[in-house]
Amino acid sequence: MKKVVLAGGTGFLGKLLRDHFVDKDYQVVILSRQAYTSKLNITYVPWDGETLSEWKNELEGADALINLCGKSVDCRYTESNKKLIYDTRLNSTQVLGKAVGLCKTPPKVWINSSSATIYRHAEDRDMGEETGEIGTGFSVDVCKKWENAFFDCTSPGTRKVALRIAIVIGKNGGALQPLKSLTKIGFGGRQGSGNQYFSWIHEVDFINAVNFVLDNKELSGVCNVSSPNPVRNTQFMSSLRKALKVPFGIPMPKWMLEMGALIIRTETELILKSRRVVPKKLIESGYRFHYGNLENALIDLVQKKP
Ligand SMILES: NC(=O)c1ccc[n+]([C@@H]2O[C@H](COP(=O)([O-])OP(=O)(O)OC[C@H]3O[C@@H](n4cnc5c(N)ncnc54)[C@H](OP(=O)(O)O)[C@@H]3O)[C@@H](O)[C@H]2O)c1
Repeated sequence: MKKVVLAGGTGFLGKLLRDHFVDKDYQVVILSRQAYTSKLNITYVPWDGETLSEWKNELEGADALINLCGKSVDCRYTESNKKLIYDTRLNSTQVLGKAVGLCKTPPKVWINSSSATIYRHAEDRDMGEETGEIGTGFSVDVCKKWENAFFDCTSPGTRKVALRIAIVIGKNGGALQPLKSLTKIGFGGRQGSGNQYFSWIHEVDFINAVNFVLDNKELSGVCNVSSPNPVRNTQFMSSLRKALKVPFGIPMPKWMLEMGALIIRTETELILKSRRVVPKKLIESGYRFHYGNLENALIDLVQKKP
């Protein structure tokens, strides 16, 4: 039986992967700060995301280690939240690196999450892994330090891939849920100028891409995980209205978004930054997207039963 260790396997993306690997008959070990009851092929092992302890034994001989840990960025960027955003990503990555280094038979592959937000605000051209330009500012700095912490870990026996993940749109959870709610009550118009690009990936392609990276031994380094077709915010919101069969959507100017973000304790950057990211490496390695087309992706997510 193959074994995968998921750190941060209890969140939105972690649960998608957990269910996928259970279906594929893997033994799934989830490192979590919460106390969950283990069942069938899923074993929950306690850790704090920063200190080496018994959990490190789970990595011995594992087929794969996948780290998805990190305090959600969907919050106000106060100094204390910023510190948590950094610490939860850097500490978990560094302590996993130490654990991998102590293994006699280390995991064959280690996938660490990163984010497509590492690239600059881009409306002018696509950002591939080689041609994309790294941006500036808090979120970019988080991603840079996160990837550096990952690639600085010495792990000669383990292939390493950092996934620069775009916004994953799914049936339950993730960024699509608040956008759906807004659209249903009539506020599904363009956000800000609407010209900013939205890099998205359907949850099925997220799972398949992770699987592809696991199986494809030639793949290492950084890898964009986004659909090949980022769209402008105007088009994203229009496709969402169409999928939800909502005939109109009131536009949300920047000042209104700023006010709303303050009330619901989040940041407008998550909506207003232009992410024009393309999955060059995945495509060149032969990955075929199930949902390259946004309208089909949204119809599947909002109209079909889970
Ligand atoms: N969802 C997206 O569209 C998207 C896009 C780009 C990048 N990402 C990145 O992918 C990763 C997973 O995303 P997600 O949407 O699944 O996030 P999520 O639902 O918020 O889950 C994050 C996971 O991190 C763990 N975690 C949270 N705070 C922690 C802390 N203080 N110490 C240790 N672990 C902590 C939690 O595990 P426990 O509570 O079980 O310990 C949880 O399972 C994140 O790093 C995120 O930044 C996500």
